[in-house]
Amino acid sequence: MKKNKTTTPKLKFSGKWDYAAAPESKDHIQLNEKYDLFINGKFTAPESGKYFESINPANEKVLSKVADANAADVDKAVRAARNAYDKTWSKMPAKERGKYIFRIARAMQERARELAVIESMDGGKAIRESRDVDVPLAAAHFFYYAGWADKIDYAVPGIKAKALGVAGQIIPWNFPLLMAAWKIAPALAAGNTVVLKPAETTPLTALKLAEIIQEADLPPGVVNIVTGAGATGAALVNHSGIDKIAFTGSTEVGKMIQKAVAGTNKKYTLELGGKAANIIFEDAAIDQAVEGIINGIFFNQGHVCCAGSRLFVQEGVAKTVIRKLKDRMETLIVGDPLDKNTDIGAINSKMQLDKIKQFVKIGINEGGECFQTSCSLPSKGYWFRPTIFTNVSQSSRIVQEEIFGPVLAVQTFRTVEEVIEKANNIPYGLSGGVWTDKGSKIFKVTSQLRAGVIWANTYNKFDPTSPFGGYKESGMGREGGLHGLTPYLSLEY
Ligand code: NAI
Ligand code: MG
Repeated sequence: MKKNKTTTPKLKFSGKWDYAAAPESKDHIQLNEKYDLFINGKFTAPESGKYFESINPANEKVLSKVADANAADVDKAVRAARNAYDKTWSKMPAKERGKYIFRIARAMQERARELAVIESMDGGKAIRESRDVDVPLAAAHFFYYAGWADKIDYAVPGIKAKALGVAGQIIPWNFPLLMAAWKIAPALAAGNTVVLKPAETTPLTALKLAEIIQEADLPPGVVNIVTGAGATGAALVNHSGIDKIAFTGSTEVGKMIQKAVAGTNKKYTLELGGKAANIIFEDAAIDQAVEGIINGIFFNQGHVCCAGSRLFVQEGVAKTVIRKLKDRMETLIVGDPLDKNTDIGAINSKMQLDKIKQFVKIGINEGGECFQTSCSLPSKGYWFRPTIFTNVSQSSRIVQEEIFGPVLAVQTFRTVEEVIEKANNIPYGLSGGVWTDKGSKIFKVTSQLRAGVIWANTYNKFDPTSPFGGYKESGMGREGGLHGLTPYLSLEY
């Protein structure tokens, strides 16, 4: 057969995508120099006497000092939550509890701009995402679960459902306010009180939420927020006064929590890591699929547990897809998180940046072919270029392990059976994506992928009514929707 020698001319981007700066103003936000712990409705100095700094990863400047809670502080918070549960929250008519949750939701909407700017400053995510995704979705979770508060009897018909009591909740740094909402809203709607521990690199929006909760006049002790690092989280997990632990974070810590609660009466839900397969069939709408690949791996700098970090492209379209993907990647703007044009903000921490760099080295040493975009990066702060690896194998570490950064591993496949086997051959099972023109193929693939959430011809779509969670090392239990309510209830059959 005669070889086709024509090559597609490469698109040149130099200078074409330089937009004028369009930074969001931060004049309207107010951050205190120092934040205490939010216990029993008041900001309270920590028993530990210690504070740690939360920085802006885009410029490495200190934003605020935050209290570092020790076991005595955690104990205080758990006692406040227990007292509020026994004396106030469990005695209040469910309809009244619902009103408080609605009030929090409305206040979050009113302060949406402020919350979005602080979220971007504290964690490095692009303002476009914190403004359009994190904050509205967080408010939507409170609105949704507020509606459930007085309908618990209908949530599980024929079964007497009761609140568990006090929930201990530990959240990560990738969606700080949204994860706080995922945790607090269903717990309160089910009639529990809570002690929440935000992540140490991104505590500020949770502390703003504490202000909102204070303004909403929630009875003291119903929501307590204790800041600190791993030791604070461990003190919460090990406290004998909690009835349930809800955790989102690394699989490693998830396993430690599972061991810590074994043999106790504590219930638990774990939302852990992932390594999702995003599968592109030959009959897919290619341009849309490329957008889905971009969204799947570069959304929130790739700090997403359900990120589409493994791309599977059917052989016949592999060349085209990879070419289009590289061209589209070159248009991505990396830089100031507060700039409205920015697509990819700062990497959350120096530690996470080092982890990403380490994985890229491993990928290259394993023989992977690395492509990175040519964009310029700011001189201060933590940044990483959008990156893809081709020529990787199923056993490569960058294919098997969660990187949690803007790094995509690309593999090809021929048949449906082959891609299902490869997609499932992984310790994780959180999410996946399928791109095809054929509904029958969607049904076949989605019914055989072992993953909690699978998107068809789209990616990273979230809704408070829809359950989210994983199989295998991605964790257990579901959050969101009715499924997310029942782990906060004791069901008496
Ligand atoms: P991590 O699991 O250490 O942190 C998550 C939360 O758990 C934080 O609030 C942290 O203070 C707390 N924590 C840490 N050690 C604890 C302990 N022994 N007991 C109780 N709580 C504890 O995650 P890290 O170190 O920030 O990130 C490491 C990797 O974990 C990432 O590179 C990523 O691969 C994965 N990860 C996954 C997340 C997800 O959404 N599934 C979120 C964050 C990280
Ligand atoms: Mg920070």
